[in-house]
Amino acid sequence: MPWNCFCCVAEEDQEPAQTRVHKNRDYPWEIYSLKELLHATNSFHDDNKIGEGGFGSVYWGRTSKGVEIAVKRLKTMSPKAEMEFAVEVEILGRVRHRNLLGLRGFYAGGDERLIVYDFMPNHSLITHLHGKLAADCLLDWPRRLSIAIGSAEGLSYLHHEASPHIIHRDIKASNVLLDTEFEAKVADFGFAKLIPDGVTHLTTRVKGTLGYLAPEYAMWGKVSESCDVYSFGILLLEIISGKKPIEKLPGGVKRDIVQWVTPYVQKGAFNQIVDPRLKGKFDKEQVKSTVLVAMKCTDNSPDNRPTMIEVVDWLKGGIGRRKKEIRKVEDTEDDQDEVHGVELSDARENITRARSPRR
Ligand SMILES: Nc1ncnc2c1ncn2[C@@H]1O[C@H](COP(=O)(O)OP(=O)(O)OP(=O)(O)O)[C@@H](O)[C@H]1O
Ligand SMILES: [Mg+2]
Repeated sequence: MPWNCFCCVAEEDQEPAQTRVHKNRDYPWEIYSLKELLHATNSFHDDNKIGEGGFGSVYWGRTSKGVEIAVKRLKTMSPKAEMEFAVEVEILGRVRHRNLLGLRGFYAGGDERLIVYDFMPNHSLITHLHGKLAADCLLDWPRRLSIAIGSAEGLSYLHHEASPHIIHRDIKASNVLLDTEFEAKVADFGFAKLIPDGVTHLTTRVKGTLGYLAPEYAMWGKVSESCDVYSFGILLLEIISGKKPIEKLPGGVKRDIVQWVTPYVQKGAFNQIVDPRLKGKFDKEQVKSTVLVAMKCTDNSPDNRPTMIEVVDWLKGGIGRRKKEIRKVEDTEDDQDEVHGVELSDARENITRARSPRR
């Protein structure tokens, strides 16, 4: 990318208020004028603000064509933010998948760096799990499962289909957005890392969000696809239980969600893991297999974690092949054996291995 692209758009202010399609056909996004985005967001008015993250604020807007957009306005420009902007635009320009948030375009001029996305009317997973829509209980069990599958498919595309492969590095509830149909869209590629062919892992400065970081990444900065798999496992537990990845106990002690869930898994008390807001309305076998997938994903050792392709397959198998497989399991084996390709004995082995003290 095209740093030279940004240079050539710095003159953008002099353009009329309409957008123009980028000349380079490799990049399908639009370059917006500052005027258009100021107009769309009511000059980044506070009432238009959707939220704020580490790198800037996000505003709702409506373009002159009537299209709803979300505009991320990066904070004051630093070399780090500049890099963030370049990576985000570069990566989003490369990827297209129904479970990844689409980039509509951007603006770069003076000190302003603005990224324009499709607006997601059902906000993010964090809003529903822990935020202002939590009390509305809009996420029933089937919706939660389909959001889990959608996010897994988006991630699987990044890991296995995008070229070069992409490690997201910041999988978390605020980065899973929901469209009108509550379909999951994985967002925020600012931390992403492009992995050249043939490279198995890279060592980098640690970025990402506490509570979702794989141990080998948090401790040694060793990053590979399996770091995303770990974060996805944490997200999965969060979706099932409605709990935050890290909980502050009375007295200030912090407990992570894997420490919390482990005793329940050991006892086979899967139903007690489920978000009480679901009031018992969930499919017990789906819950069990989904928890076991999460336990596999959050294995301390990256080599023992599944790939996202396997995760998608297991989560989908949990729906489609569920009845048939459960019957087979019940007929032939006892409670500790394989369910939907996820071995309970393996998951138990994982959780008994060095779970405490945790990271
Ligand atoms: N396209 C969008 N449609 C609707 N809401 C969005 C959109 N993009 C971002 N948001 C919401 O805006 C808020 C701020 O997002 P942002 O990505 O800046 O921060 P974050 O995800 O909370 O943290 P971080 O900076 O670590 O990514 C989040 O709640 C996010 O879900
Ligand atoms: Mg975000």
